[in-house]
Amino acid sequence: MQDLTSILEEALAAFSAIEQPAVLEEAKARYLGKSGVLTEHLKALGTLSAAERPAAGARINRVKSALEEALQAQRNRIAELQMQRQLAAQALDVTLPGRGVSPGGLHPVTRTLERIHTLFHSIGFDVADGPEIETDAYNFTALNIPENHPARAMHDTFYLDPTHVLRTHTSPMQVRYLETHAPPVKVIVPGRVYRCDSDMTHTPMFHQVEGLWIDDSVSFSGLKGVLVDFMRRFFEQEDLQARFRPSFFPFTEPSAEMDVGCVMCHGKGCRVCSHTGWLEVLGCGMVHPNVLAPLGIDSERHVGFAFGLGVERLAMLRYGVNDLRLFFDNDLRFLQQFR
Ligand code: PHE
Repeated sequence: MQDLTSILEEALAAFSAIEQPAVLEEAKARYLGKSGVLTEHLKALGTLSAAERPAAGARINRVKSALEEALQAQRNRIAELQMQRQLAAQALDVTLPGRGVSPGGLHPVTRTLERIHTLFHSIGFDVADGPEIETDAYNFTALNIPENHPARAMHDTFYLDPTHVLRTHTSPMQVRYLETHAPPVKVIVPGRVYRCDSDMTHTPMFHQVEGLWIDDSVSFSGLKGVLVDFMRRFFEQEDLQARFRPSFFPFTEPSAEMDVGCVMCHGKGCRVCSHTGWLEVLGCGMVHPNVLAPLGIDSERHVGFAFGLGVERLAMLRYGVNDLRLFFDNDLRFLQQFR
């Protein structure tokens, strides 16, 4: 039989070279199994004399426990090795820069609309919306602009067919709203409007907010108060100057255009205000009896005002944007400045 020292050396060398758990268990069987080398030695003890047996038995047992110890150590090493490999395969470099997912932001026109909404809501205005494809009847006729009236030429209208247009203003909603709501009404109507026009200060589509307040004692001074207060809060300038110039709209009488002191130069005169010190911000007036009468509203009892403001115009002034078209190019370099 092979001597115990060389068995031990051979087994230890074998164990330490193994990296697969199953192979290690096979090796174990070869030495410590039922017909393993060491087991054979134990069986052979019977052939020794009684005097030799205890010492020989003790030696075999020492080798056996040395092998068992080595086996366990190798099992642990293999497990450790496997863990290391797995960790290496799943390596995550937490110092790598991220993928750069940049958060979105609201479009400046949306932000301006929300700001307008918030300010009017705070003084009790409701909000409504209406169709962008409008009949010629609502867009013009119901607003006291009869067919062939020269006032139709004030708007460069997109006609879809002889009786349908892309609404040129939000004013048709004055009529639609009053058809379904009896006075008193106090509402704003934000929305898209369309005109066949395109240059630095005009785009074929833009946004307006219509305002309508009808009650039994709404006056022109009420209109002034509401709009001056709104502009001061909108531009966060408490001493913002305002003036109302006489104007003409077929659906209001009297009509006015509202100017505010230039928010860029504070009235000193600059390019934005064409050196006048004033900026035109909206059209307004007392709702014309010819608009109210077909709706069954008696102008002797119910009066009120309406106004229409350009949202992009206010956004340009608030954010200092000098070209209206920037709002619709969707250039991220522009939009990111509003995050
Ligand atoms: N609808 C008019 C325009 O687009 C503005 C306006 C609205 C004027 C309400 C008076 C009253 O120019």
